[in-house]
Amino acid sequence: MRNMDSSGAKSFIEGEYRGHGHGSYPTISDFAYVEILSFALSPKGFIVYAQATTNPETGEPMHQERGYLRLGESMEAELVVSQPTGVAEIDTGPVREEGGALVLDLHSTGLIVSPTAKPVNAIRRRYRFSERGLDYEVWMSIPGVELTVHLAGSLSRQGF
Ligand code: HEM
Repeated sequence: MRNMDSSGAKSFIEGEYRGHGHGSYPTISDFAYVEILSFALSPKGFIVYAQATTNPETGEPMHQERGYLRLGESMEAELVVSQPTGVAEIDTGPVREEGGALVLDLHSTGLIVSPTAKPVNAIRRRYRFSERGLDYEVWMSIPGVELTVHLAGSLSRQGF
């Protein structure tokens, strides 16, 4: 994979991914989750993003989110995410090729929480897409806590 353009990057990202994640944060107990994540390319050129998680022991739903991933010609990514917990998020950052993988390192440039949501000050998401699948980490900052890892997941690309 060399000198990929934005349409090549979109095709590489497109797919469904399944796997496990681990959650942590200084203010809460560690937890595990099962995750299904999909990136579907629209004919309009954007990618529809959907994520859903469940409790690995009970199968009960946990967090889910929906959004759009926009990749421009300059290989800058823009992720628009809405969360049912009352968080609306815009993350931006570069798309880079690293050792056969495609890495998106995104920082929140816009973040709004609803009146009853738990406060969140900043989010960073780092996604690493490879032929095998997707590995990612999500950091967040809340009042009194600097950017700290909240989630780390490792998922396999389906159909491979
Ligand atoms: C970017 C995505 C996410 C954001 C912004 C977010 C935000 C938060 C916040 C603000 C808290 C409260 C921390 C505190 O008040 O001390 C929290 C706690 C928690 N989060 Fe997340 N979270 C995200 C994704 C997830 C995911 C994917 C899961 C599970 C699969 C998850 C599970 C939990 C759990 C179990 C807690 C502790 C209990 C609770 O407060 O509900 N979170 N999260």
